[in-house]
Amino acid sequence: MWILIYLFAIWSSLRTLVTASDVVATTETVSTSVWPSLSPQMTVAFRSQRDVMGNMTIDQLPYVGLNLRRVLLNNETSMINEGNNTRLLALIKSILASEATAFVLDLKQQNDTLMVVDSTLLFSDILTTFQSFISSTQNNLYANVIVLLLNVSGPVGAQDNQNQALNTTYLLDKNLGSSYIYKPTDLQSDRSKNNTWNVYGKSSIDGWPTLGSVLYEQKKRLVVGELTDFFNQTTAPYIFPHDVFHYEQGNSTLDCTSSVDDLTNLSSIHWRFLDSQFNSADIKNYISCGLSPILRNPSYINNVTQLSDILHEGSVWSWDINQPSVTQSTSKSDNSLKAYNCVLLHYFANNGTATWRVDNCYGSNVGLCRYENMAFEWLVRSNKASYFDFDSYQGSKCPDQYTFNIPRTPLEQKSLISYLKNASFPDTKIWIDLNSVSVSNCWVSGGPYATCPYEKVISTRNFVTMMVPASVCSFALLCIVVYLSVLRVPIYDNRKNWRRVINKISKSELEGVPS
Ligand SMILES: *[C@@H]1O[C@H](CO)[C@@H](O)[C@H](O)[C@H]1NC(C)=O
Ligand SMILES: *[C@@H]1O[C@H](CO)[C@@H](O)[C@H](O)[C@H]1NC(C)=O
Ligand SMILES: *[C@@H]1O[C@H](CO)[C@@H](O)[C@H](O)[C@H]1NC(C)=O
Ligand SMILES: *[C@@H]1O[C@H](CO)[C@@H](O)[C@H](O)[C@H]1NC(C)=O
Ligand SMILES: *[C@@H]1O[C@H](CO)[C@@H](O)[C@H](O)[C@H]1NC(C)=O
Ligand SMILES: *[C@@H]1O[C@H](CO)[C@@H](O)[C@H](O)[C@H]1NC(C)=O
Ligand SMILES: *[C@@H]1O[C@H](CO)[C@@H](O)[C@H](O)[C@H]1NC(C)=O
Ligand SMILES: *[C@@H]1O[C@H](CO)[C@@H](O)[C@H](O)[C@H]1NC(C)=O
Ligand SMILES: *[C@@H]1O[C@H](CO)[C@@H](O)[C@H](O)[C@H]1NC(C)=O
Ligand SMILES: *[C@@H]1O[C@H](CO)[C@@H](O)[C@H](O)[C@H]1NC(C)=O
Ligand SMILES: *[C@@H]1O[C@H](CO)[C@@H](O)[C@H](O)[C@H]1NC(C)=O
Ligand SMILES: *[C@@H]1O[C@H](CO)[C@@H](O)[C@H](O)[C@H]1NC(C)=O
Repeated sequence: MWILIYLFAIWSSLRTLVTASDVVATTETVSTSVWPSLSPQMTVAFRSQRDVMGNMTIDQLPYVGLNLRRVLLNNETSMINEGNNTRLLALIKSILASEATAFVLDLKQQNDTLMVVDSTLLFSDILTTFQSFISSTQNNLYANVIVLLLNVSGPVGAQDNQNQALNTTYLLDKNLGSSYIYKPTDLQSDRSKNNTWNVYGKSSIDGWPTLGSVLYEQKKRLVVGELTDFFNQTTAPYIFPHDVFHYEQGNSTLDCTSSVDDLTNLSSIHWRFLDSQFNSADIKNYISCGLSPILRNPSYINNVTQLSDILHEGSVWSWDINQPSVTQSTSKSDNSLKAYNCVLLHYFANNGTATWRVDNCYGSNVGLCRYENMAFEWLVRSNKASYFDFDSYQGSKCPDQYTFNIPRTPLEQKSLISYLKNASFPDTKIWIDLNSVSVSNCWVSGGPYATCPYEKVISTRNFVTMMVPASVCSFALLCIVVYLSVLRVPIYDNRKNWRRVINKISKSELEGVPS
């Protein structure tokens, strides 16, 4: 009997906690940010993209960013009128919390420090803002890689070599924390450990490490580089030199054709950025060509938030609008099984586009196969099957040397579209290797029996290693919020599932929550 009461108490406290945390989240966003925050659905879409890209190298990922001087810091009068920079820094923090993952920052040296051009901000103010965002998202639900590109100039009228007094290492250590920075020495060490890869998924000494390795093994969050030739590896050992990046302004000179050879050649170029004006239609085209767009659309502090739509169009390259949808649990009405936990890629022959949509795993469709480790070689089988039959314990319906797969980057999706076009496919719906069968809202690759990493993380307690030291209370709260936001398994009986959740939680409560 007391067990029942205990369970009920836990259950009701869970409800209160979740409601409370929702309230906290809303008030916080209202008071500190002007940039629209992500809806829960967008958060899930963004996270699932990150997870799909986990095995890709960080130099090949699509980043979407802002040239901060062009979009925000270009109106000196407004800066002076502002008096202090509280609002500006809050805005930058809210931009970080949205989908922006790359920033270009113009800096000028003044005595032994760096100032942000056209403003009264110090570089250290920006770094502190980054530090605050990064440390608050240093867990496997929210961590991502951010690229910060610096455009540095010396004091007016001075010769070069003025940078001797300037200690960027000290600035970064003090205001950001070196442990978050993926440094040139980390790259060196990854390369010597054969932990860097080329486009064929083979280890390569001029490649880069995967997103998964950087985020979860090395726990790094930020890549700092310079576009100018101001620093060198002696004076600024944390900052990647400009020749590491392929940075273009205005029109791109990179060819965006789509044969497998061309795309493979394109992928041998690291870190492809295009700093230009974009609109919500053309940004998608640039992303699909493997370019990372940096927005420089004219705007200033009062209307910069209007760029958030363009940023959003660019950063969700996979899912359709209003996807991934959460459709309510299995229903056995009309005698057919339904489980909306599997993903179909919808290909439209008329305009050569493709988007991902959640669909019923029991539906009968063709599936997507990839040839060995080749990033751009696809096959769509004509035999239709349910998701569970297409890829089962016995293996998938893909032929030998092919595996059930998914386009992991915009460039891979582009090559898939070009394969479908060349083979004259009509409008087609294709199963791809992404589902939330084990835990709803948690999208995983690896067949219908793949498990949700966030669930595993909680039960094995590896979670703690990813967390900044947090109080027991907020740790527990986070676990619970995670549980409730990712759980609600439709495949099985809901009541049974609840009992499983509650058992797990109460078990861990009995064992004591680690701090
Ligand atoms: C500069 O900022 C002020 C105050 O925010 C605003 O009134 C003015 O229109 C802005 N000027 C330009 C050119 O954007
Ligand atoms: C900056 O200005 C805001 C109002 O614009 C004010 O609330 C805040 O206290 C100021 N901060 C400092 C450090 O002066
Ligand atoms: C630092 O810069 C200011 C002007 O920005 C100048 O007045 C001052 O003399 C400089 N200090 C040194 C030590 O160079
Ligand atoms: C870097 O700064 C220089 C001088 O301030 C400017 O002309 C150039 O356009 C900037 N580059 C970028 C990419 O913003
Ligand atoms: C780096 O810059 C410093 C100061 O400008 C200079 O003394 C040093 O020789 C440079 N090192 C290299 C490898 O260029
Ligand atoms: C820069 O600062 C770091 C501490 O953050 C220190 O170890 C290093 O010696 C300094 N470098 C120079 C050239 O002063
Ligand atoms: C990395 O790969 C090379 C060539 O395949 C091999 O000779 C070397 O021993 C490997 N290094 C490590 C640390 O595994
Ligand atoms: C990605 O994963 C597959 C198998 O899961 C592996 O064969 C491939 O080498 C990996 N690619 C990279 C770049 O690590
Ligand atoms: C960029 O391309 C457009 C259209 O192709 C052209 O009109 C424009 O002049 C180009 N801009 C530059 C800077 O080359
Ligand atoms: C790809 O690059 C190689 C070497 O850089 C070159 O020989 C080849 O012609 C390129 N292929 C295409 C299709 O551009
Ligand atoms: C912001 O306002 C300026 C001046 O009114 C205008 O030129 C610019 O296009 C606006 N930017 C956006 C993104 O709305
Ligand atoms: C492509 O065509 C489909 C169906 O005709 C339509 O639903 C979709 O919105 C179109 N996509 C674009 C980007 O125009």
